Amino acid sequence: MNHSAMTIVPGGGPHEFTVAHPDLKVECYGYGVSFSSSTCPIITCHSVQYYKSHGVIPRGYKPNRDNRILEIGAGLAEFVPWIVQNLRGSSRERPVVIDPLNYSLVINSLELALRQVISEEAQTLIMRLLDRAKIYSDPSKVNLISARLEEVLDATELQNQYDLVVDCQAGFYSGIESSELMRLKESLKRRKKFFI
Ligand SMILES: C[S@@+](CC[C@H](N)C(=O)[O-])C[C@H]1O[C@@H](n2cnc3c(N)ncnc32)[C@H](O)[C@@H]1O
Repeated sequence: MNHSAMTIVPGGGPHEFTVAHPDLKVECYGYGVSFSSSTCPIITCHSVQYYKSHGVIPRGYKPNRDNRILEIGAGLAEFVPWIVQNLRGSSRERPVVIDPLNYSLVINSLELALRQVISEEAQTLIMRLLDRAKIYSDPSKVNLISARLEEVLDATELQNQYDLVVDCQAGFYSGIESSELMRLKESLKRRKKFFI
């Protein structure tokens, strides 16, 4: 990792600054943090509750060791880390994530942000997101396919059929037409037990 390419740019107010790298920008402000990368204009970190209330996963969904899960464009969302933490290695297969986001860069940027003077609120959030980024980049916990969906459609990893295919505001960026994306997601599912 080329740390010299990472700079701290001060912002306008107290606790405001940006950790800037040509491939990732992390903006920190009084109460939070926002991300953009060279691969996507906005990287979000939605909660499991958000996924449930927006129909991304079934409302009553509970982690299940038999479910084979694929998330397209997980970003820094809570869902996959929540699955990993709840099943603690008891699941048959690791969740698969397809996302071109550079998680090592995210980790380095967040660690650098934590070394600045930040509010307690921002610190708590950054630590939570750091934990998630570490889970995403741990191959013993997550099978991360570091690529864009459209690049790996034919890859052998994708020939598996999944019980749950999750896509929250990510497939949109793939350039795959929405009806085609729907068809693809259905074909990636096996049992259609969870029809989203
Ligand atoms: C708006 S964020 C959504 C993150 C997360 N799903 C959530 O709801 O918080 C979009 C994510 O999709 C990823 N992404 C962008 N283009 C993609 C593509 N072509 N294939 C797979 N993932 C992509 C980005 O890297 C980013 O992590």
